[in-house]
Amino acid sequence: NKAVTVNTLHTLKASGEKITMLTSYDASFAALMERSGVEVLLIGDSLGMVCAGHQSTLPVTVNDIAYHTASVARGAKNAMIVADLPFGAYGTPETAYANAVQVMQAGAHMIKIEGGVWLADTIKFLTERAVPVCAHIGLTPQSVHQLGGYKVQGKTTESADLLKADALAIQAAGASMVVLEAIPSALGKEVTDLLAIPTIGIGAGPDCSGQVLVMHDLLGVFPGRKARFVKNFMDGQTSIEAAFTAYVTEVKNGSFPAQEHCF
Ligand code: KIV
Ligand code: NA
Repeated sequence: NKAVTVNTLHTLKASGEKITMLTSYDASFAALMERSGVEVLLIGDSLGMVCAGHQSTLPVTVNDIAYHTASVARGAKNAMIVADLPFGAYGTPETAYANAVQVMQAGAHMIKIEGGVWLADTIKFLTERAVPVCAHIGLTPQSVHQLGGYKVQGKTTESADLLKADALAIQAAGASMVVLEAIPSALGKEVTDLLAIPTIGIGAGPDCSGQVLVMHDLLGVFPGRKARFVKNFMDGQTSIEAAFTAYVTEVKNGSFPAQEHCF
């Protein structure tokens, strides 16, 4: 097994092979995921909900992310490790950089931040200082109180145009990758075709460069209501490792996400 780097991601995108990403929060599951062929492990701020039991991701701190990132980094030898900067951790380029340094020193290879056009200066500031950036647009859970709930984004022409402008601004600022969450499949395809950098979808249709799911959702241990884009990969499997492998197989061969998981 070779280390997964930004170059690997761009090679996968260029060759049309789907990129597999899962959220990961500890060393044991990280090792299993990596052994199953998952290329990218995301220390998502979803840990505030699935691990800590909060109602949203807002209470998560940079120290929380750094702790879980260090755990994942000890369990994974070759996977690319991406860590979320949590709510309040990237209001200015300078604070974003200080917090990115903390999570990269804990073991992350790339950081993820939620937003589009408004983050362009921050993305430029970070990438100039050797912090690779994944942006996250569409349904951005840190904005839940501004969005008024966890709702599908980009359904109107105006909001779709804004999302495309966000995607282009992110890329121009130097981002390496972008997560698209909860948008119509047609828009997921449009954005993917528009960009040179890989798109990773969660509820963004089958045409993204790759897919991501929250580990607990994939294993059927989600605490709340099941989102449309979730599939329980434990169905028909007898081990967690087999479920991870099934996820990788179905993303790679294009059978996940199916129509029923899309908007
Ligand atoms: O925190 C998280 O789990 C995420 C993914 C859903 C992309 O940001
Ligand atoms: Na997140």
